[in-house]
Amino acid sequence: MATRKILITGGAGFIGSHVVRRMVNHYPDYHIYNLDNLTYAGNLENLRDVESKPNYTFIKADIVDGEKMQSLFQEHNFDGVIHLAAESHVDRSISNPMEFIMTNIVGTVSLLNAAKANWKNLEGKLFYHVSTDEVYGSLGEEGFFTEETKYDPHSPYSASKASSDHLVRAYHDTYGLPVKISNCSNNYGANHFPEKLIPLAIHNIKNSKPIPVYGKGENVRDWLYVEDHASAIDLIFHKGKVGDTYNIGGFNEWKNIDLIQLLCKIMDKKLGRAEGTSTKLITYVKDRAGHDLRYAIDATKLNKELGWKPSLQFEEGLEKTVDWYLSNEEWLQHVTSGDYQKYYEGQYTKR
Ligand code: NAD
Ligand code: DAU
Repeated sequence: MATRKILITGGAGFIGSHVVRRMVNHYPDYHIYNLDNLTYAGNLENLRDVESKPNYTFIKADIVDGEKMQSLFQEHNFDGVIHLAAESHVDRSISNPMEFIMTNIVGTVSLLNAAKANWKNLEGKLFYHVSTDEVYGSLGEEGFFTEETKYDPHSPYSASKASSDHLVRAYHDTYGLPVKISNCSNNYGANHFPEKLIPLAIHNIKNSKPIPVYGKGENVRDWLYVEDHASAIDLIFHKGKVGDTYNIGGFNEWKNIDLIQLLCKIMDKKLGRAEGTSTKLITYVKDRAGHDLRYAIDATKLNKELGWKPSLQFEEGLEKTVDWYLSNEEWLQHVTSGDYQKYYEGQYTKR
């Protein structure tokens, strides 16, 4: 049987690297192509353990480059795409929306066009678009996002992801492209870039620096361990229904301030500090513009139809994550040197 060629975009990023590792290791009969242009968030150190595997190839390219995408599809004749490449940080989208429009919208369309032009026989072909629960907007105290919830994005990031979701569906409805979409809640785990709440707080606690909490810390996020997201993507890619959307989440809601308190407790223990030491670092700062109050995913469809459920409880996942950061000092040093300092000062010094 011919080898199945799978293109994963954004595979050097946080979630992408876990998806690439899973696919390379679980499917030795597939060839996995990881396409990434290595922005500040892309890091080949995330993939050291798979880079010499015979079923893995890295391609450095920008998804916005339509001609390049066409020529790569012609050259490799990919059978499937798992599309994760994106600008992913809400705060950056507030300061610089255009990069989000280019990568998340134009980049997605350039990939869709390459698939549409090169997939003459659609048998066995699939374009799987990885998206976010932020497209649904913000919840009040009650309720959950289901696959039927109306789109209502607020940040430039979520609006760009909502737009890309609509375009993926449009290529299915208009041109018959076989597509699937999943919308997931907040991920955490190893290799998470320290601009996002959990790794930023771990980094600051470790260095006894202030932990910036936006507003009153009352916003709620629904946290999922990154490897559980990767397992859901694997399952949906193989068993999900073409044309369908699946919500992914762990029914694991936390107010930001409660999460930070728990993290402080775990880190005090791990670092041999007296209980209560790290909570003194909590610093309330100016709120994020347009800050969504609450996200909560109803993942019943994924559970009922495909039997998926998360493997880890939050406290266990958070401890594993802290352990990873404490034993990967060099990784953290590499990603927080250079441009990171400039970004951090720009975001937080006068906040
Ligand atoms: P990330 O920022 O860590 O990684 C993004 C990757 O995409 C990086 O490796 C980067 O180099 C690459 N990339 C960016 N622009 C590119 C371009 N123009 N061409 C090629 N590669 C490019 O992001 P992440 O947190 O791993 O998120 C991955 C995907 O999952 C995104 O689509 C995001 O919207 C979605 N998502 C993320 C979360 C989360 O909690 N992080 C939750 C739900 C969905
Ligand atoms: O819900 C899925 C989304 O989760 C993904 O689509 C995004 O790519 C991902 O970045 C994440 O978005 P959030 O904005 O929810 O994640 P972030 O880690 O930036 O923020 C989590 C919460 O913590 C949010 O309410 C803002 C708050 N926060 C964040 C930072 C960086 C703080 O209070 N202080 C901070 O310094």
